[in-house]
Amino acid sequence: MTAISFASSTEPRHHPDCCMAISQPLLHNLANLLPHGPAISVLSIGSGTGLLESLLSQLLEDSYDVCGVEVSPNVNKYLPEQNMFFVGGTWDLCSQAGKSHAWIFTYPRESKLIVQYLELHDHANLSKIIWLGPKMDWQDYEGVFACSRFSHLTILEDCGAAAYEMVVVAEP
Ligand SMILES: C[S@@+](CC[C@H](N)C(=O)[O-])C[C@H]1O[C@@H](n2cnc3c(N)ncnc32)[C@H](O)[C@@H]1O
Repeated sequence: MTAISFASSTEPRHHPDCCMAISQPLLHNLANLLPHGPAISVLSIGSGTGLLESLLSQLLEDSYDVCGVEVSPNVNKYLPEQNMFFVGGTWDLCSQAGKSHAWIFTYPRESKLIVQYLELHDHANLSKIIWLGPKMDWQDYEGVFACSRFSHLTILEDCGAAAYEMVVVAEP
């Protein structure tokens, strides 16, 4: 596991290990959005290197960690082994999603993945899905959420994201 050497700034900044530009306000806003309480489980699907997830886990302190799902163990750099789940390929889904209270998708490659997760792993205790990505991609995802149980969509304004990126919270 790589130690995090990333000092987040007030302005969104790119790091080669994360598609989304990261800023302190973005991290704090995301941490505040996540469900709080004992035995909470948050799953980032397509977590990549796990940089964003590790920075979030640091902010959540002892409450809980954000876990990640990836296709290959070689991609993860920052999340501890016990916080990682792996799937067999880009077509595959992780059953841990069926036990998680919130899902995070940061720069997902295909809206189909979210459709499939919603079809197979949506469950009563799933309270929030957070989508982060480029504004120009949102049009491919909006309809997916609008047609699902998570049709209440909040686009976060002034949340610390870069001007061309956005954060959307989907709730029932
Ligand atoms: C564009 S990258 C984004 C990575 C990371 N979230 C970021 O923002 O840096 C998309 C990631 O999704 C992963 N991925 C694709 N299909 C997946 C699946 N079915 N389950 C889990 N991860 C998947 C890819 O391996 C890749 O790392």
